[in-house]
Amino acid sequence: MAKVLLINGSPHKNGCTATALEEMIKVFNEEGVETELLHIGKDDIRGCVSCGGCRKAGKCVFEDRVNEAAKIFEQSDGLVVGAPVYYGSPNGTLISFLDRLFQSASYSKHLKVGAAVVSCRRGGNTASFDVLNKYFTISGMPVASSTYWNMVHGFTAEDVKKDLEGLQTMRNLARNMAFMIKAIADAKEKYGVPAVERSFRTSFPDGK
Ligand SMILES: Cc1cc2nc3c(=O)[nH]c(=O)nc-3n(C[C@H](O)[C@H](O)[C@H](O)COP(=O)(O)O)c2cc1C
Repeated sequence: MAKVLLINGSPHKNGCTATALEEMIKVFNEEGVETELLHIGKDDIRGCVSCGGCRKAGKCVFEDRVNEAAKIFEQSDGLVVGAPVYYGSPNGTLISFLDRLFQSASYSKHLKVGAAVVSCRRGGNTASFDVLNKYFTISGMPVASSTYWNMVHGFTAEDVKKDLEGLQTMRNLARNMAFMIKAIADAKEKYGVPAVERSFRTSFPDGK
């Protein structure tokens, strides 16, 4: 059975971001896709310290929910990350979490489907959306899209429940994501997995 991991970056388990993610979960259930939702927004998640320890250990040196999520992500076919917007960016806890998750998880994320969801009261959604999508696109992860912006507006969950277009966008996003996951599984059988070159890592050591 296909599986999607959803990460709620918000400290509010029943807040705006969670309401958007729950709308997606309803569709995943209809589509026969298993889900696991992690609320990480109240955890004390420190940022990456660039120690390089994960290169040896295959996991982050800080034992917290990043390593827990990494194990679930490995078994998942898709990842949804949801963020409340704080000062025009995804909230800091989620950024710290994702930096360490993507940096430390040693397995390939190639062809796992990604989707970003953002929630704000007034502004900063599109900038935050851009930030989150980059985790996927530099990791070989196809990005699922919807009928319009993957975002909801509100200060409370009750506000978001009135954002009918936002919720519709979440349902369409989940349907597209479920389809992509199933289609990629079929395509892997038919065509195999595209080759990945990793010979070059050019950091311009000659200064040019
Ligand atoms: C520290 C902080 C900064 C915020 N910055 C913004 C912002 O830049 N733009 C905005 O529209 N809302 C901002 N908000 C409001 C939240 O992003 C918004 O209410 C969001 O939908 C809350 O989602 P949640 O219920 O999932 O936590 C901010 C809230 C906090 C606590």
